[in-house]
Amino acid sequence: MKQTLTELLDSRVSAALAAAGCEGAPAVIAPAGRPEFGDYQANGVMAAAKARKMNPRQLATEVIGKLDLDGIASKVEIAGPGFINITLSPEYLASLVSAAQDDARLGVPMPPVERVVVDYSSPNLAKEMHVGHLRSTIIGDALARVLRFLGHEVIAQNHVGDWGTQFGMLTAYLIEAEQDGDVSIALNDLEDFYRRAKQRFDSDEGFASRAREYVVKLQGGDAQVNALWQRFLDISLHHCEAVYAKLGVGLRREDVKGESAYNDDLPVVVADLQAKGLAVQSEGAQVVFLDEFRNKEGEAQAYIVQKQDGGYLYATTDLAAVRYRAGTLKADRSLYVVDARQGLHFQQMFALSYKAGYAPQTMKLEHVGFGVMLGEDGKPFKTRSGTTVKLADLLEEAEQRAFALVSEKNADMIEADRRVIASAVGIGAVKYADLSKNRNSDYVFSWDSMLAFEGNTAPYLQYAYTRISGVFRKVDGWNASAPVVLSDSAERLLALELARFADAVHGVARDAMPHYLCAYLYELAGQFMRFYEACPVLKSEGAVRDSRLRLCRLTADTLKTGLGLLGIQVLEAM
Ligand code: ARG
Repeated sequence: MKQTLTELLDSRVSAALAAAGCEGAPAVIAPAGRPEFGDYQANGVMAAAKARKMNPRQLATEVIGKLDLDGIASKVEIAGPGFINITLSPEYLASLVSAAQDDARLGVPMPPVERVVVDYSSPNLAKEMHVGHLRSTIIGDALARVLRFLGHEVIAQNHVGDWGTQFGMLTAYLIEAEQDGDVSIALNDLEDFYRRAKQRFDSDEGFASRAREYVVKLQGGDAQVNALWQRFLDISLHHCEAVYAKLGVGLRREDVKGESAYNDDLPVVVADLQAKGLAVQSEGAQVVFLDEFRNKEGEAQAYIVQKQDGGYLYATTDLAAVRYRAGTLKADRSLYVVDARQGLHFQQMFALSYKAGYAPQTMKLEHVGFGVMLGEDGKPFKTRSGTTVKLADLLEEAEQRAFALVSEKNADMIEADRRVIASAVGIGAVKYADLSKNRNSDYVFSWDSMLAFEGNTAPYLQYAYTRISGVFRKVDGWNASAPVVLSDSAERLLALELARFADAVHGVARDAMPHYLCAYLYELAGQFMRFYEACPVLKSEGAVRDSRLRLCRLTADTLKTGLGLLGIQVLEAM
């Protein structure tokens, strides 16, 4: 099978629609809303009939007459005004379970390969990473994993903020700190370093003018200032890498392509926009007016690409970056995993990029936005004293809390083992809490709910996996290639859920929505628990036992692979 289940049903129903005179009419396949509607519904008949002024029930009858689902469905029925309800046969579902088990990719088909740039994490290096970058890092990492799993060529781009006036101030302060002799200590806490540099900048005119001089020198390529700046970046990147390591995120130095990398290109971009008649002078600045973006008064909104003082902006850098991603990296698709509040910027930048020819029309540019992380009080997430939460501290706390939980459950386990579990559970919980929500909405960060062993959480899924591993530890011998037989309805429903894995993974890649996979895994774990209650496994015998063990095995493998795609580890015991 080189199609997902939905794709297969779609192609069969579309073919039947075409044979019934509705060429090109979409089949609209969806999982059935209720068990009595079968497993899948094809909902496209009504629209097809309406467009052609046909009777929908009659068309549905004709479509069913032409529909070839031999060996796939055991029942196909018309319901209501012209829905087609499809029930998959147990034999077919059993064959899918077998096929998935024989495949290292669990039966997930590969779509046509694309080269995909994923811009994620991308913190500003002047300060320490904060919770907004946590979301970008976690979501981007999950997307990169899913895309790679599907065979796409993923190019990670860590578009760090490493350029601009702040760095003049920081390098000037670095020299002072060096003279005081405490530079490594001073840089231990970047947040604090920044604060003190800013204080100096605001209170000492001499320092401020030195800082401004450094910006000019930096941009002019002065070797000494550049070396200082590099040193600062290196330390700041080390801080980021500590967070990546703790999170198990695979961003490497090679993936860093910061704002500074595009510096030389900025005047070129602006000149090009001028030459194309897209950028015009407005109040001394270089501005693009895009018709598709109008303000309340109906006037085209200004998109500034060069300031009055000649300085360039975040927008200019992103235009240069898009040219690089299209022209040099030859990406088919470029994802920007960035705070939803930057939505307008990206929409304008994308529109302009197509217009100026920086990205071909065939290249997909997508802003993968996300909402704000809120505290339990519903306000933006802060420490008790109201300062931003450092990621390193947050992850440390996650592990501590998980360690306390694990120790409570396994008092006699040796500490080193409890630490390993605590890290998988604590970090997994933080990631999963983020990934399981629709990324477009704000979400409340709550230790208690993310670390709960019930509900749609990482610990719940990790525990489900561990339980199945426990089953296999109790099995002495079994036949892993025995036929899968689905007689009980709980067995059939579990097999059906297993067969939906490919659609979940494909959906994540298509819409850049990791929560689809979370919802799927949660559903799968629930279906497994129902199966496990209804159908004795270890207490059954012979062929039944082998068949049920195969269902257990594939469930465990699917949970492990699925969680792995989210960057979350499983444990054999916990
Ligand atoms: N550094 C930016 C920030 O912290 C995010 C950059 C996102 N990527 C981009 N190509 N604009 O908000």
